[in-house]
Amino acid sequence: MDLYEYQARDLFESHGVPVLRGLLARTPEEAHAAASALGGGTVVVKAQVKVGGRGKAGGVKLARSPEEAEARAREILGLDIKGHIVHSVMVAEGADIAEEYYFSVLLDRAHRNYLAMCSLEGGMDIETLAEEKPEALIKVPIDPRSGLDAAKADEIVSLTGFAEADRDEIVRVITLLGKAYAESDATLVEVNPLVKTGDGRILALDGKVSLDENAAFRHPEWAHLRDESLDDPLEIRARERNLNYVKLDGQVGVIGNGAGLVMSTLDVVAYAGRRLPGHPKAANFLDIGGGANAQVMADGLDIILSDPQVTVVFVNVFGGITACSEVAKGIREALKQLGNRATKPIVVRLDGSAVTVGRAMLEEYAHPLVTMVDTMDGAATKAAELASAAMGPEGHALHDRLHHGEQAPDAACEGAN
Ligand SMILES: Nc1ncnc2c1ncn2[C@@H]1O[C@H](COP(=O)(O)OP(=O)(O)OP(=O)(O)O)[C@@H](O)[C@H]1O
Ligand SMILES: [Mg+2]
Repeated sequence: MDLYEYQARDLFESHGVPVLRGLLARTPEEAHAAASALGGGTVVVKAQVKVGGRGKAGGVKLARSPEEAEARAREILGLDIKGHIVHSVMVAEGADIAEEYYFSVLLDRAHRNYLAMCSLEGGMDIETLAEEKPEALIKVPIDPRSGLDAAKADEIVSLTGFAEADRDEIVRVITLLGKAYAESDATLVEVNPLVKTGDGRILALDGKVSLDENAAFRHPEWAHLRDESLDDPLEIRARERNLNYVKLDGQVGVIGNGAGLVMSTLDVVAYAGRRLPGHPKAANFLDIGGGANAQVMADGLDIILSDPQVTVVFVNVFGGITACSEVAKGIREALKQLGNRATKPIVVRLDGSAVTVGRAMLEEYAHPLVTMVDTMDGAATKAAELASAAMGPEGHALHDRLHHGEQAPDAACEGAN
């Protein structure tokens, strides 16, 4: 999970890293109030979007009074920065910048290490610096067992070549950033720029932080960092029920057990669809995981059927720990709960553990929306045909207009069962 700059600022502050005061504003009036609360002097109004290069895109502006802050916020709010619309700004105290440096620490998976990077030339885009002046960017691997301790920070500072007078303070700040990184289970802490002010203070002026979602279970405080406005509402519902759901842009809702089976199901559906008018594809991806019970299946189906883009559902389960009888029960349960809100056909392929019982249950239930097909290929073809038919001639024409001349993707799954 990536944090907004204002959240990174708060995180730094809570770890004692020197930062300037900053307040979030969602309207120009709030920006006026924030600038007043900061003393009415010079502030910087900064777009809060999870993308780099805000400055160049007109998303970082100086304001000398609350009135100016309000005007700048009016300009910045609503801007489109590389596809990210600005919904809020941070009004931050203005710094008297003497020098701009760069510092980051990140998880280096390939080397099973942390990696610290530092440069006297901050402020600019780090990719550009790494490319054009690689000698100006020092890289120091860090053993995760010892972490970024004072000795490591000292080494980083020496290699970077900071002025003698600033050494101690920079070592202190870098050590605090390393602590913030470790204690908050981050995979990235980047400060660009880390600045020296006219009066010699060292400040983290801009922060980028990514947190490791795998550690979410031990950070209940992360709940309020999540920006659900960015997420698909069905993804939120799925997360609340511990289901792995990903929205895609086709028409066939896919439910399966295990990420491998679900991913190959997407391929088989695309493969079957490419021969049909409108080239139907998967609309989403829902993995009910291993050992799913009827309730999990019912929850999953409920979510998939709520996606207005879905015209057909394909349930593809290979029973292992998950028994096909539970899946059949779940489908029955979901259809009962949904009643006449269920209007979309469901193609079911069951195989593996308890398959005979599962299939017999669905046959006995004989719901008009449910079609059982024995093989994965056969079921994918059936689902794709139903989706293609549901698009109608208009849908096919629309697809042809949108994808004029585009080759249908070649799914590498011929012969999948
Ligand atoms: N509080 C501040 N006071 C004075 N100047 C600032 C302040 N914040 C930022 N600046 C100036 O604006 C420049 C750009 O700001 P910042 O690094 O926050 O955004 P950015 O680098 O454009 O965005 P991103 O980091 O998303 O690429 C800084 O390098 C600095 O010179
Ligand atoms: Mg920056």
